[in-house]
Amino acid sequence: MFQPLLVTDRRGGINPRASRTLMRDQSLPNVALIGFMGTGKTLLGRMLAHRWGWRFVDTDALVEQKVGCSVAQIFERFGEEYFRQQETEVLRSLENLHRVVIATGGGVPTRTDNVISLRRHAVIVWLTAQPQVILQRVQPIHTRPKLASAAEPLAEIRRLMSERETAYACADIRLDTSTLSPEEAVERIEELVRGWKPRNLT
Ligand code: S3P
Repeated sequence: MFQPLLVTDRRGGINPRASRTLMRDQSLPNVALIGFMGTGKTLLGRMLAHRWGWRFVDTDALVEQKVGCSVAQIFERFGEEYFRQQETEVLRSLENLHRVVIATGGGVPTRTDNVISLRRHAVIVWLTAQPQVILQRVQPIHTRPKLASAAEPLAEIRRLMSERETAYACADIRLDTSTLSPEEAVERIEELVRGWKPRNLT
């Protein structure tokens, strides 16, 4: 079962290196990053995995590999429903992995089956950011099929974020990355995961 992983020295100070070693040695749930596009799931997920010596996977990349073309091309050629089905199959295939950080596509939590799947094996971290910050981070926008055709991308970001709010709220932990550097955000995620009180994973 998951334990908080702060290793302290004799004076009670935190020993980060020893704490990190424990991330490798103990039987922990995986970490799944969910949230809207441009909140940092892929970048921070990769950094976190590197820091802990864990494997990193990105569901968009896995879908692209499975289908053999980019997310934008999948939307264009086969439609969103087909993409969502591939995404669900990819998530299922991750259920037996251990010590993996998973960056999910922004629409993953909109399917209940996907949330049930992630909750079986992962602590779920919801990354958020201000809509204006997201708009800057998602450029070039033509690579984002959910926003590419919007007449007013900022309004569409706001609309989709609010439509998905309840779905994202399945998370165990929430973090706003708007004003954090990637290093600060990863540090914060690590702290929050360590302090997380385990729930039943099944
Ligand atoms: C989507 C987000 C994208 C990708 C696809 C659909 C969404 O992933 O899965 O374009 O519906 O929010 P990122 O959140 O990694 O950009």
